[in-house]
Formats: sequence, structure tokens, C-alpha cells
Amino acid sequence: MKTISFFNLKGGCGKTTSAVNLGYLLAKKLEKTGEKLLYIDCDMQSNLTNSLMDYDLERPCIYHLFTDDKEIKDVIYPVRDNIALIPSSLLMATVEPRLAGMVGREFILKRKIAAIADQYAYCIVDCSPSFSIVTTNAIIITDKIFIPVQTEYYAVDGVHLLEETLGYINQSLGIEKTISLLFATLHDTRNNINKIQYDNLKNTFGKRFMDSYIRKNISLVESPIFKQSIFEYKPRAKGAEDYKKLFNEIESKGGF
Ligand SMILES: Nc1ncnc2c1ncn2[C@@H]1O[C@H](COP(=O)(O)OP(=O)(O)OP(=O)(O)O)[C@@H](O)[C@H]1O
Ligand SMILES: [Mg+2]
Repeated sequence: MKTISFFNLKGGCGKTTSAVNLGYLLAKKLEKTGEKLLYIDCDMQSNLTNSLMDYDLERPCIYHLFTDDKEIKDVIYPVRDNIALIPSSLLMATVEPRLAGMVGREFILKRKIAAIADQYAYCIVDCSPSFSIVTTNAIIITDKIFIPVQTEYYAVDGVHLLEETLGYINQSLGIEKTISLLFATLHDTRNNINKIQYDNLKNTFGKRFMDSYIRKNISLVESPIFKQSIFEYKPRAKGAEDYKKLFNEIESKGGF
């Protein structure tokens, strides 16, 4: 199983939207070979979960995995023919203090995931916009880190902060995780600031910064309400076109 995490310390930059839609396209491709994809929602806001299934605070979820109350098989739910999800819930708001003093707390997810890794070709992790024990758990199981970036002021600075955070995690745990690729989200090609920041990101991160970008598109806001990806909700929307283009670029560059 290859694991891709969507990560950025900045909130609202399109991590969840990108995880849902790039994940969906990846799953469609896997369908042809009979392979499966697993989503993991590592954010207490549970936006990924709510984009794919109804909210249920009673349902065993990733919280129970972290607290050792449930086995991994008890927290995996099918959401499409070849897509499963480990959901999150608001309970995750209380997990950090419980993990704080625990030995090996950064490796909980890694230990648990090992039991099911052979059942899925890919795992897509949606991270919260914070540096925490849960986020560190996610980074540890990750092979590729994808960074959605809004082309606003301080876009480049924000990514540098992220690299420093990764450096800190690497140093303290003896691992070597780096940003695999970045792409622009909520991008408006007519907006001067967006254009300047896009160029800054390209100049700074070069090949790692994808040429394809995701424009602002209201259908991307609406589709989670119907528990659908953009490709199920409005396959002809600008958002669907953009995510398909981005998917193709990432694929052609060996990004997956
Ligand atoms: N391309 C887009 N066009 C218009 N709205 C978008 C687009 N991408 C995301 N959004 C909307 O912006 C908001 C933030 O997006 P999203 O939840 O994907 O970001 P996030 O990085 O996961 O946020 P958080 O840090 O809170 O987890 C959501 O309301 C989402 O529907
Ligand atoms: Mg999110």
C-alpha cells in the first residue's frame, strides 16, 4: 500500500477537497485492476468523512483506533465499490491529551495499518491544519506528501514553515519525509496577486510545483453536501476539469 497525505498547516486551502477528488480518480483507475483505495480522515473537523458518508458520533472511528478501543477492521467502512474510509469524529478533539504521555505514540497508526496494508493499493490521508501527535502519526505512514497551496500573500513563506515543521518531525523521529509535490488551489488567473504568487511558487519549488491548478468553482463546494466527488456530482463542472487535468499531470510525472 502506497500512502499519500494531503497536508498544509494553513486551513482552508483545499486539502480535503483535493483528497476527495484526486482520491476518486485514483480509485477509478484502480477499479480496472480490481484494486482498492482506503481514505483515512485524520482531522477532527471530519470534513472528509462528511464528504463521503453521513455524520454519526456513535460510530467507531479513528479515535477508537488511537485509543486502542477498536481493531482496525471495526473502523473501516465501504463508501464506494472499491473505496473504504476510516472516518473521524469530533471525539478526535479529545485524543491529544490521551496520547501525550504514551510511549510510541507517534507510531500508533503505523502499527495498526500494518494489519490491512495488503488489502489496499493506495491510502489517502486527509490531515488537519495543525502540527500534532495525530498529524505526526499520519506523516510517519506517508510515502508522498501532497501540498495544496492557495496563491495568496505569504504562499511561499507558508510552505517554508511547513518544510521546517517536517524537518523537526524528521529530526526528532529519525525519518526522512519531504514534500513530494505542490499545486495551486482556489486560483484565479485574472487576479494579479494570485498570478504573482503562482509564479513565486513555480520559481521557488520548480518541478515539484504542478503547472495545473484548481480554479474557484462553486460545484466543488456543493458536491460534499451530496456526499459525492465532483465527478459524480457535476462531471462537466470546471472543478472536475481542473482536478482531471491535475490528476493527469501528477500521473504523467510519476507523482502517484
Ligand atoms: N476550488 C475551489 N473552489 C471553490 N471553493 C473551494 C475550492 N476548493 C475548496 N473549496 C471550499 O473551500 C473550503 C475549504 O476547502 P477544504 O475543506 O478542501 O480545505 P482544507 O484545507 O481541507 O480545510 P481545513 O484546513 O479546514 O481542513 C470548503 O468550503 C471548500 O468547499
Ligand atoms: Mg480539511
